[in-house]
Amino acid sequence: MTADEAAIAELYDNFDAGAQFEGSVAGNVRDPYPELARKRRESPVEGRTMTLFAGGAADGSEDVTQDAFWVYRYDDVSAVLRDNESFSSESVREMMGLVMGPYVMVGLDEPDHKRHRNLVAQAFRQRALQRWDGDLVVPIADQLLDRILARGTGEAELVRDFTYRLPVQVIAGILGLPPGDYPKFHKWALALINVTADPEEGIAASESLREYFADVCELRRKDPRDDVISDLVHAEVDGERLDEEEILSFCRLLLPAGAETTYRATGNFLFGLLSNPDQMAALMADPGLMTAAIEESIRWEPPLLIVSRRATRDVELGGVTIPAGADVVPSTGSACHDETRWGDTSEQFDIRREPQPHIAFGAGPHMCLGIHLARMEMRATVDRILTRLPNLRFDPDRAGTDPHIHGETFRSPTGLPVLFDA
Ligand code: HEM
Repeated sequence: MTADEAAIAELYDNFDAGAQFEGSVAGNVRDPYPELARKRRESPVEGRTMTLFAGGAADGSEDVTQDAFWVYRYDDVSAVLRDNESFSSESVREMMGLVMGPYVMVGLDEPDHKRHRNLVAQAFRQRALQRWDGDLVVPIADQLLDRILARGTGEAELVRDFTYRLPVQVIAGILGLPPGDYPKFHKWALALINVTADPEEGIAASESLREYFADVCELRRKDPRDDVISDLVHAEVDGERLDEEEILSFCRLLLPAGAETTYRATGNFLFGLLSNPDQMAALMADPGLMTAAIEESIRWEPPLLIVSRRATRDVELGGVTIPAGADVVPSTGSACHDETRWGDTSEQFDIRREPQPHIAFGAGPHMCLGIHLARMEMRATVDRILTRLPNLRFDPDRAGTDPHIHGETFRSPTGLPVLFDA
């Protein structure tokens, strides 16, 4: 192992999936779904006070809270996300701007958002996606599996050994960062992703990443390569270009938007399969089920359960008047379990379910830009895991660790202790 690899390994070995949920907005909740079902029935649009950080005020004496109208049903969530004139992304901009800079795309409104999205979308075109699949994602997955197999023990903890590691490496790869920079990039990336648990360290990491990306942009302006940063610094649509701060915000957004969501979603997919060995066997016997299985896992356990908006005018929704200026929280997690769409089995994981579009990737103008990349990463990595770790199953001896999917805002497994035939 090189010194760089050893530094990365140490970073990840110190990772404790369970600690991700303590005292952070991820939320220390095991199963929010019964309560969400009750909300859909009894108060589908509801004014509530949400605790963002327990004891998070400057002197630690008070919680930091947010008053907002929560929206729980599929049709209402979809209506809010598609109507970006009545529901602005200003609240997202305020929340993320501190860490990502003022031009963070997910927080922009029109016309700035469309201009920005058209420019960055060039870097995420289909051709790039195909190349990333074979040249980047599969080799990274295989390297991680090589490490697991080299131990020769026939056991692994797939969150710490695999799902938590892969998406950050994929982002580093698509941005075209030199491998020698990976250890420092990984360190900053993890601190940025964990900003809700440790705001001071997260904000410092964001500033380091900003300076680092500014240097990479400078290099790619002079000497373009086949990577996303080169595409971003040279992108041009109708004579428009991205300015430096927009590019630096976008690069930093890719870590929480692209790495955190995907690591959690891949863990949830594996958890669904490991908890339902019959469905895992069906998927292995018929790889044609893979597309439906990925979508079902994201619907069943979305890695991110809410988004945020602010009403720009008084709006009537579900019999409630949301006043202009109020914050709105569309619960995409609740919408994905709406029984009017998925029937009375909506809480179950079922890869053979009649396919039906879900809303875990959002909807409307801000719908996830990385949707195809996320699906490709999940497909490639689960395919490599099932192929290379035969007879994969939960480790019954470690059942005492009680692995389960956890969290109220972000959700993923507390651990995936597995055995396989070495
Ligand atoms: C399973 C994995 C993922 C899920 C569940 C997910 C979910 C979402 C959701 C719900 C939104 C909408 C936010 C809003 O409306 O305010 C969004 C936006 C976004 N996502 Fe994803 N995402 C995933 C993976 C990715 C990946 C892999 C990338 C890129 C590498 C990515 C990049 C983005 C970006 C840039 C936006 C902002 C789009 C815009 O504002 O126009 N996401 N994502």
